[in-house]
Amino acid sequence: MKISIFGTGYVGLVTGACFAEMGHDVICADIDVEKIKLLSDGHCPIYEPGLQQLMQKHLLSQKLQFTTDTQKAVINSDLLFIAVGTPSKDDGSVDLSSVFNVIDAIISNAKNTEKTVIIKSTVPVGTYQQIKIRLVDKPHLKLCSNPEFLREGSAVTDGLTPARIILGVEDFSTEKRLIEIYRPFVKHISDIIVMDPASSEMTKYAANAMLAARISLMNEFTRLCEKTNANIKMVELGIGSDPRIGPQFLKAGLGYGGSCLPKDLRALLEIGRQHNLNLKLISAVEDTNHQQKILFLEKIKKHFSALAGLRITIWGTSFKPDTDDIREAPALFLIQELLKLGAHISIFDPQSAEKAKNLFASKNVEVAHDLYDSLTNASALVVATEWDFFLEPDFDKMKREMKTPVIFDGRNIYSSHNITELGFIYYGVGLT
Ligand code: UGA
Repeated sequence: MKISIFGTGYVGLVTGACFAEMGHDVICADIDVEKIKLLSDGHCPIYEPGLQQLMQKHLLSQKLQFTTDTQKAVINSDLLFIAVGTPSKDDGSVDLSSVFNVIDAIISNAKNTEKTVIIKSTVPVGTYQQIKIRLVDKPHLKLCSNPEFLREGSAVTDGLTPARIILGVEDFSTEKRLIEIYRPFVKHISDIIVMDPASSEMTKYAANAMLAARISLMNEFTRLCEKTNANIKMVELGIGSDPRIGPQFLKAGLGYGGSCLPKDLRALLEIGRQHNLNLKLISAVEDTNHQQKILFLEKIKKHFSALAGLRITIWGTSFKPDTDDIREAPALFLIQELLKLGAHISIFDPQSAEKAKNLFASKNVEVAHDLYDSLTNASALVVATEWDFFLEPDFDKMKREMKTPVIFDGRNIYSSHNITELGFIYYGVGLT
């Protein structure tokens, strides 16, 4: 099948590479000239395990090509996937301008040839209908809603072996075409779930809201645990073993970040407002997420009566492990607030430290290139992201580097008992 993908962000690139791996001829189009040049040379602009290798493999096999030529991408393919960004506007609503720019390009270049347009970008419920209105006198252009559920850090695995595929379609021929293309990706045909487009669009937001709600609920429990001598890690184990609940997305810590969960919750609240609905639970999920970072900062402030002039080391500036994405990363909030309090910050992250540093104009933020060098003269270490790299450090070496052996573990990666026995003062989240 000939496939074009519009947009070369996480979703577009991974989708393109995965379709190429399945033997399709894929064109990835983007308006960013520099990015397309980089991609055509085999360089992946983001750190995503396995992606660069997959891209390079299919640049060589000529199953994958990159272009800024939208016209070529429309004309040459039968399936046109829209995977452009849909960022938040200032009021929380979704900016759909890139989606509509692609739709306009498709309309003007498709002429009368039959094509299927698939909306993969995360779009508010009702967008399918808005697009359909634009396509009203274009019966050769079929439409489908097909939200993406891949996670950064495991995007290639998620893309190649998705748990399920959601298709929002209105006509049988489009349904058949899409099932045919997705069938090799899933174990069972029943993993492809077909529904109406509005439900498909809503499923995407509902999934992210559900995941965020689980995290915030656990984070709210951390506050109770700290007051009642309970341990959130044990509670996680206890409730996660109930098959009705399951173990995933129960990790308490500094709260969720990234480009999706925060943005999609804001969008849901805005969609609610447009319909005169006060979505109180979603608002509380957001609020708990924000408070979680503030409460963690309070622990640091309480430990040191003054932070001015103290060196604080931050491990992990990406919003989660295995990515260089720092969008809405909890570490950024902590760095910003610690700087305001006069602290000097040393940051270490396997992928995103320089990117994070560049966000701060202050000369009091330094990047360390070694885990232990980052701790030299530090009054405390803050663990903000649970990279594997941080799980089993040489604690004696750490202690020798640090001015005072204090650890604020925002992801509960260490055992409080072991670490205090090693002579550290340890603060986790929701631990006794
Ligand atoms: C999320 C969804 O998981 C994907 O299914 C979806 O496709 C994607 O958004 C999107 O809408 O594009 P992603 O943002 O890449 O994926 O990362 P997650 O693994 O969901 O993590 C989000 C945040 O939650 C991270 O900051 C992570 O540290 C935090 N988290 C996750 C927790 O605090 N506790 C957990 O138990 C799990």
